[in-house]
Amino acid sequence: MTADNRIEPERIQHNLKTKRIGKKILVFDSVSSTNDTAAEYANAPENDGLVVIAEQQTAGKGRAGNKWFSEKGESLLCSILLINEKLNAELLSLTIAVATAEAINETARIKWPNDVMLNGKKVAGILLESKQVKNNKAYIIGIGINCHQKEFPKALSSIATSIDIETGKIIDRITLSKRLFGATEHWLKNAQTKPAKVIEEWKRLSILLGQRIKLIHNGKGFTGNCAGIDPEAGLILQLDSGAMKFFPASQTTVGK
Ligand code: BTN
Repeated sequence: MTADNRIEPERIQHNLKTKRIGKKILVFDSVSSTNDTAAEYANAPENDGLVVIAEQQTAGKGRAGNKWFSEKGESLLCSILLINEKLNAELLSLTIAVATAEAINETARIKWPNDVMLNGKKVAGILLESKQVKNNKAYIIGIGINCHQKEFPKALSSIATSIDIETGKIIDRITLSKRLFGATEHWLKNAQTKPAKVIEEWKRLSILLGQRIKLIHNGKGFTGNCAGIDPEAGLILQLDSGAMKFFPASQTTVGK
């Protein structure tokens, strides 16, 4: 790892314009999961906006109980702690997807609910967890962005990619972190005051809208056209019968 590639809190915070996200940043060489580390800080309200970053995770977690692998230093692996955030989980999930896509680059797109794609392959994943602390609910937003991977194992190479692969350049993870925390703060404010703006941007970036898709919901398959997204209820699928059915992100995966 070259000196320029070192992730240090001061380097990210230098000229960072945010008031909430990233005011406190903790960087670890190795943790089990940045989400689990961030959750340990959730009892203190002053830790709202805390960011935990790690160069390596020994037990990185993905959605639906999957594991999330990344070689040391190849990704931006971070978790953002939100304490007493009033947004519901569905809207929060879409908001973070929009912010992550914007931070990566203007060609990034979203595959519902919150996979971020470059040229049709997954470049980033988001895992939203929550924890009850005293009278508050804390959200832990885990974001993994593939940055410097040059290749992926055969089983993943047709579905996963990295920013470096797709752009042909080496992404500066400090710049990426600043963009991510800035975009997160910006889109969170929009979600609180003008949620329709988030949905509009999510729709603009979405690769599923209007597409024929297959969903797995609680182990059962459904096929139809992706007709829209509801911030509370989730993805709206028009079934072949013509009926509209809502699928919450937490219990649904989009099939291949
Ligand atoms: C997905 O399955 O798409 C979500 C992947 C989320 C991975 C990130 S990496 C940082 C944070 N810590 C974790 O253990 N998971 C999230």
